[in-house]
Amino acid sequence: MGPGGSIRERGLSPADPGGDAGVLRAKWDQRYGSAEGLPEPALVLREYAHLLPGRGEALELACGLGASALWLAERGFRVSAWDLSPVAIRQLSAHAQERGLPVAASVRDVIAEPPPPDCFDLILVAHFLERGLAPAIAAALRPGGLLFYQTFSREAVSDCGPSDPMYRLAPNELLGLFPDLIVRAYSDEGRIGDTGRGIRDLALLVAQRPEGSDPEPPP
Ligand SMILES: C[S@@+](CC[C@H](N)C(=O)[O-])C[C@H]1O[C@@H](n2cnc3c(N)ncnc32)[C@H](O)[C@@H]1O
Repeated sequence: MGPGGSIRERGLSPADPGGDAGVLRAKWDQRYGSAEGLPEPALVLREYAHLLPGRGEALELACGLGASALWLAERGFRVSAWDLSPVAIRQLSAHAQERGLPVAASVRDVIAEPPPPDCFDLILVAHFLERGLAPAIAAALRPGGLLFYQTFSREAVSDCGPSDPMYRLAPNELLGLFPDLIVRAYSDEGRIGDTGRGIRDLALLVAQRPEGSDPEPPP
C-alpha cells in the first residue's frame, strides 16, 4: 500500500475550495462520523523525525482526526489542531483528553481565518492543498520554525488520493509555494526507477523560516 493508502481507505479527499463551507463541513462530518480508528501520523513527520525541534508550539492545519497532532504532543509539543469538521475535532479532543495530551483542538475554517503571523515553531499540513494559504502558513512560523508538508503528487504510481489533478502537486510545485523558506528536506520520487520501492504518490517537504527574518504579511 502506498503512503496515502489509509486516506484512500477512508474515502477522504481534499477540500473543494469553490464549495460552500457548510456543505464541505457536512461532507467531512459524515466521513469522520463513520471513520474507524485513527490514521497513521503523517509520513513526513515520521520520516524526518530527526529534524524536529526539541519542543515548542506546533500547529496541525486541517488536522482531520489529528493523529499527527497527538503524535507531536506525545513528543513534548504544545499543539493546536484546527479543522472545519466539528465531528473530527470532537473525536480529537476526546483522544487528547483520554491520553492527557496538550492538544487544543478547534473548529476553524483556515481559509476564512488563516493562522496569524509569527506564532508557531512547527506547522504540519497533510493532504490539504490550498495554494492561496501558503504565504500565511510561511508567515505563521516563528523565525527558525519548521514547516512539515505532505500531499499527493500528480506523478503517482497508484490511484491513492484525489483524482482531480487540481488537488495534486505538479513536480516541484511544493518547493515553489514556499519561496522564502529554506528547504531542509524534499522528496517527490515520481515514477522513476523501481516503483515498488521508496516514497511514492506523495511530495514531502520540510522547510525552515530563516532565523531573524521578519514575518511576511499575508496577502
Ligand atoms: C484529506 S483530509 C486530511 C486530514 C488530515 N490532515 C490527514 O492527513 O489525515 C482534509 C481535511 O481538510 C479539512 N478542511 C477542508 N477545508 C478546510 C478549511 N477551509 N478549514 C479547515 N479545514 C478544512 C477537512 O475537514 C478534512 O479534515
